[in-house]
Amino acid sequence: MSYHQPYPPAGVQLNHTAVYASDRSLSAEFIAAILGLEVGAPFGPFLPVDLGNGVTLDYYEKRDEPIQAQHYAFLVPDEQFDAVIARLEAVGVTYYADPRHTEPGRVNDLFGGRGAYFDDPDGHNMEVMTRPYVRP
Ligand SMILES: [Fe+2]
Repeated sequence: MSYHQPYPPAGVQLNHTAVYASDRSLSAEFIAAILGLEVGAPFGPFLPVDLGNGVTLDYYEKRDEPIQAQHYAFLVPDEQFDAVIARLEAVGVTYYADPRHTEPGRVNDLFGGRGAYFDDPDGHNMEVMTRPYVRP
């Protein structure tokens, strides 16, 4: 997958962030498989997953310390949402309608779209949504 944009880009854009993992391959392969993406070639200590919008998740292994769970939200096209849910079901990962994981097996309808939350292998709280949050 390639992504081209004018350089320098207008304004500030998130370009990449490190995602801590106890096993970078496991975690990168997991999110890539669920979202229908590819894991890139290792870049030093990082294992990248390009999201297709110019942002890269750089999976970084942290073996000796506990991993603080973070939250990552992915906007997906409407027509891909069902496939994401189907992949979660296929690998036996429970999804929830709410961020606190009290409504298993359900999706939400926030902002007129659909959304769901699920844990990655290290407990990062992942979210897929078809509409961005409408903020005041
Ligand atoms: Fe969120």
